Amino acid sequence: MPAYFGLDIGSTSVKLIQTDGNRVKAIGIGTNPFGKPISAMTNAEKISMTDVLRTLIKESGIRLDKAVASISESSVFSRVLKFPVMSTPELSTAIKWELDQSVPFPPSEIETSWSVLERPEKFEGNEKISVYVVAVPTKISETYVQMCELIGIELVRLENEIPALNRTFGPVLSNEKPAAVLDWGASGTNIVISGKNKLFSNFYVPVGGFALTKLIADAFGLPLDQAESYKRTYGLAKDQLEGKMVVALKPVIDNVVGELRKLLIAFKDEYQDNSINKLILTGGGSYLIGLIPYLTDALGGVEVVMGDTFASMAVEAKYKSLGPVFPIANGLSQ
Ligand SMILES: Nc1ncnc2c1ncn2[C@@H]1O[C@H](COP(=O)(O)OP(=O)(O)OP(=O)(O)O)[C@@H](O)[C@H]1O
Ligand SMILES: [Mg+2]
Repeated sequence: MPAYFGLDIGSTSVKLIQTDGNRVKAIGIGTNPFGKPISAMTNAEKISMTDVLRTLIKESGIRLDKAVASISESSVFSRVLKFPVMSTPELSTAIKWELDQSVPFPPSEIETSWSVLERPEKFEGNEKISVYVVAVPTKISETYVQMCELIGIELVRLENEIPALNRTFGPVLSNEKPAAVLDWGASGTNIVISGKNKLFSNFYVPVGGFALTKLIADAFGLPLDQAESYKRTYGLAKDQLEGKMVVALKPVIDNVVGELRKLLIAFKDEYQDNSINKLILTGGGSYLIGLIPYLTDALGGVEVVMGDTFASMAVEAKYKSLGPVFPIANGLSQ
């Protein structure tokens, strides 16, 4: 049994979970009162957040003093990059160069890690090395360490969200028929193409459930809290409010669908013998009424399912329906 619990501090909800194989030993979920990721919080908010976390941990019944936490994809550079076949030192230089171009921080202010996902076995000309590269601003990782110190928790590992999602869904997938995972949070949406414990590609779209609420607020002239309950009550139902919800929400949903399509097309171009015919939906945004038929329609031929991380786990009944919001925390806890 791991000696640590998983901690996913989302911009609206904080998820924590302690697991033992297929058993959930302790679990908790609470509101992030600031409605933003840690990287966007002021110092006073971060300190106040440590009180929120301390209370949540206590209420969840977790008695471990070690945690593995995730940093939002919005705060990191996390990408599968392709390079021509080259030696490891050359690859290291090429990655540094790529990060210099793509990350808005000097090299001295980021922590970088990378792992080779695929190295071609024979060289016929166009083969590429596939590398997963993650760069985290040191300032952000230090914030997590300091917050955990204040709470009295040892942070055994800090990682971005994609590896945790992959750990949760990867074991049951296949490399010949990978799945797309759409993790629809509040601030943003992760799109991942995942095989058997293998990452093919990923992309972060900086729009999520909050953007949908905002569209409803604007379209109907409502305050945000009322727009949020409209969203949860009507979703994408065509037969409610004269179909105005679909019209209002379409721009943001189609934006995410557009990014997903780009990843699917890029995958198809590269792996012509393989196909993606499953889309796993997670995150609070996946509860949007009508989202599954909407995506099934938009993606034609792809089976869209909810990504219930508790499907084959023993968990307290009142948390059973929260399977789609716990995949990251669950992956961290493994
Ligand atoms: N029934 C529902 N219908 C539509 N949207 C919902 C529903 N329930 C929750 N949501 C939305 O899910 C989002 C929160 O999901 P989640 O808890 O996964 O986000 P988060 O992890 O806090 O955010 P992020 O990962 O972006 O930092 C909110 O935007 C919320 O409005
Ligand atoms: Mg989240």
